[in-house]
Amino acid sequence: MSPRLVVALDIPSSRSLPALLQGLPPALEWFKVGLELFAAEGPRALAPLREAGKRVFLDLKLHDIPRTVARAVDACARHGVGLLTLHAAGGRAMLEAAARAAREAGPRAPKLIAVTTLTSLDAGDLADLGIVRALSDQAEALAHLALEAGIDGLVTSVHEAAALRRRFGPKPLLVTPGIRPADGAADDQKRVDTPARAVRAGADFLVVGRPILEASDPRAAAEAILADMRSAAAR
Ligand code: C5P
Repeated sequence: MSPRLVVALDIPSSRSLPALLQGLPPALEWFKVGLELFAAEGPRALAPLREAGKRVFLDLKLHDIPRTVARAVDACARHGVGLLTLHAAGGRAMLEAAARAAREAGPRAPKLIAVTTLTSLDAGDLADLGIVRALSDQAEALAHLALEAGIDGLVTSVHEAAALRRRFGPKPLLVTPGIRPADGAADDQKRVDTPARAVRAGADFLVVGRPILEASDPRAAAEAILADMRSAAAR
């Protein structure tokens, strides 16, 4: 599969969605709905995307007891979600229950993507949680746990993506946020990389929000990102 661009819909309401979709290249297939929009509107927020024939990446970062998470995975499968996130820190039983629920939902099941450590946490935050190993060791241990439990992929910075590819091979789906065009502003992202570098590092899904949605010409911004991705894939 060639790498895909995912537009992060960090917006408070789906009212603006039809116009927003109109203003983007029709070839863009994937859109990420996060907690803000889903908490505001629930599955109703997904309707404009479904009606436009788009694929949904639901970024809910599930973290609960195994039975609850399994049932949430099943509900998301019924909403036609293609990618769904959960926290690897929910533990082996939760991850295995989620993977089982996805298997049982059959072909309409979402691919499950694990978050290892939130990029908003630093070593001090981990220490507050009683975690004394280095952040990178913690992230790698959780990645290993999630993949062993049958989770399909990982959220990672571009910076760590190549190492994860080397360590875990071609199978895991790697999802990379923190993407900025070569000449773009970093916004509040600490570590940013270009679309081409993400592709070369082995990313499968590149998540981009503000550089597209806040551009004066979102269509041109998205086209430029797609062109940069293709330039790397062609090498
Ligand atoms: O606007 P921007 O391109 O920074 O948006 C990136 C998207 O990826 C946002 O929806 C953000 O919540 C998400 N994300 C991130 N960094 C992570 C995990 C998710 O920016 N480590």
